Amino acid sequence: MQIIHHTLDLRTQVKKWHMAGETVCLVPTMGNLHEGHLSLVDRAKQLADHVVATIFVNPMQFIQGEDFDTYPRTLEQDSMALFERGASTLFAPGVEEVYPAGLEHHTEISVPSMDGFLCGASRPGHFNGVATVVSKLFNLVQPDTAIFGQKDYQQLLVIKRMVDDLCIPIDIVSLATVREDDGLALSSRNGYLSESDRIKAPVIYQQLQSIAEQLKKGNRNFADLESVGKKNLKEQNFDPEYLSIRRQADLTLPEASDTDFVVLLAARLGTTRLIDNIILS
Ligand code: PAF
Repeated sequence: MQIIHHTLDLRTQVKKWHMAGETVCLVPTMGNLHEGHLSLVDRAKQLADHVVATIFVNPMQFIQGEDFDTYPRTLEQDSMALFERGASTLFAPGVEEVYPAGLEHHTEISVPSMDGFLCGASRPGHFNGVATVVSKLFNLVQPDTAIFGQKDYQQLLVIKRMVDDLCIPIDIVSLATVREDDGLALSSRNGYLSESDRIKAPVIYQQLQSIAEQLKKGNRNFADLESVGKKNLKEQNFDPEYLSIRRQADLTLPEASDTDFVVLLAARLGTTRLIDNIILS
């Protein structure tokens, strides 16, 4: 596996692949890789001749006061895992390589149809940062396909909508959330949980499952389901930011006649912000 740190080297490599008529699949990450990320690599290998995994902790998507400085950076361990999993290339640029002119006044991509609500309400500017860096990675790697996990469901729709709106010729593939045995969605931020909070954390998925069960049974009292879920979370010392039943396709509010839902939730447990969702049709 080759490790590339500079955009110029990446462009040279990508050009060679394209000239040989070979396909490329991109797996963008912020590192501190877990089985969720590695399952994206497994799928990417099935889709293209070359898998380019990227590791870049993107300052533009962290809002003030968030964990940009302390976000776990484990490049050595991550590159070993990618090598073992068969990625052909790791692109791990520094901040100055991605933002040579700095962040101030940098061009930003915004996807207003998918922003301003749910995570977009509590993290203003976050999705602009995601859309901007992902579009830069798309331009640098020029992949045929890019893969994202469904755990960041709103992020996935932001990227899909950006690709549609800007006619970007890349197929977006998504993969189901990978979970611990007790149901907790894998996340690099799970490492922030204290021992006792880690034991409690699967309650989030249990709440999502119980709402999904109700929806499957035909319960369409969305407001009631959401407020009972939030109450249950509060009783177990979670501080819910949102718990919302939305339409799967575009995150708009559902009606009783709808059948394809996604139930999304963000909550704090101690100082850790956890997100998760359940998709049901
Ligand atoms: O999901 C992530 O890890 C990041 O938001 C992404 C897509 C790699 C962009 O920085």
